[in-house]
Amino acid sequence: MTDQATDSEAVETDIPGKPTSASRTTLSHIMTHSDTNLLGTVHGGVIMKLVDDAAGAVAGRHSGGPAVTASMDEMAFLEPVRVGDLVHVKAQVNWTGRTSMEVGVRVLAERWNESAPATQVGSAYLVFAAVDADGKPRPVPPVIPETDRDRRRYQEAQIRRTHRLARRRAIRELREQRAAEGLQD
Ligand SMILES: CC(C)(COP(=O)(O)OP(=O)(O)OC[C@H]1O[C@@H](n2cnc3c(N)ncnc32)[C@H](O)[C@@H]1OP(=O)(O)O)[C@@H](O)C(=O)NCCC(=O)NCCS
Repeated sequence: MTDQATDSEAVETDIPGKPTSASRTTLSHIMTHSDTNLLGTVHGGVIMKLVDDAAGAVAGRHSGGPAVTASMDEMAFLEPVRVGDLVHVKAQVNWTGRTSMEVGVRVLAERWNESAPATQVGSAYLVFAAVDADGKPRPVPPVIPETDRDRRRYQEAQIRRTHRLARRRAIRELREQRAAEGLQD
């Protein structure tokens, strides 16, 4: 991963931009007994798989080809999901770099036994890298935020990008310093 970029990075590309709405996707799934943990509620890993699937569909649609998950962060589980609940996983591209995209995901559950509006049960941010046939990163179209909410998400994604790069750089420097001091691991 390159960690030279900053939050003010301007990505130069000849690829025409694509609006957020062009790739926004919702994946819906009814939870069954095979999705549960020992407590009888839905296993977090089942939700994470749906999150990765929905985000991957968005990344593929936005970039016009294959894209791989580079990272998943800030996966939050806000409320338990139960067997029978209809889960909706809503994903959109929040931000684009040169070859990577941040996809924001919201997880909502419609309770099987309530006629109430869907409850938000989770959220996550994933970074996908678009790749070519050899698995090498390839450029992506810049995302064009369309609404005030899209623009807020774009700005927040830039903050997360800056923090990811800074954390990675700080850890690498610490390890280099420890190695220079002759410390083992
Ligand atoms: C993701 C991957 C393609 C990056 O390859 P790389 O040789 O490190 O390439 P780069 O350093 O040029 O990174 C490519 C882009 O991804 C971003 N990126 C790479 N690793 C990242 C990470 N851990 N977190 C966030 N972004 C990351 C880079 O910032 C860069 O973005 P930019 O071009 O928009 O600035 C490579 O690490 C890979 O194939 N990983 C496995 C992915 C996979 O199999 N996922 C499924 C899990 S089973």
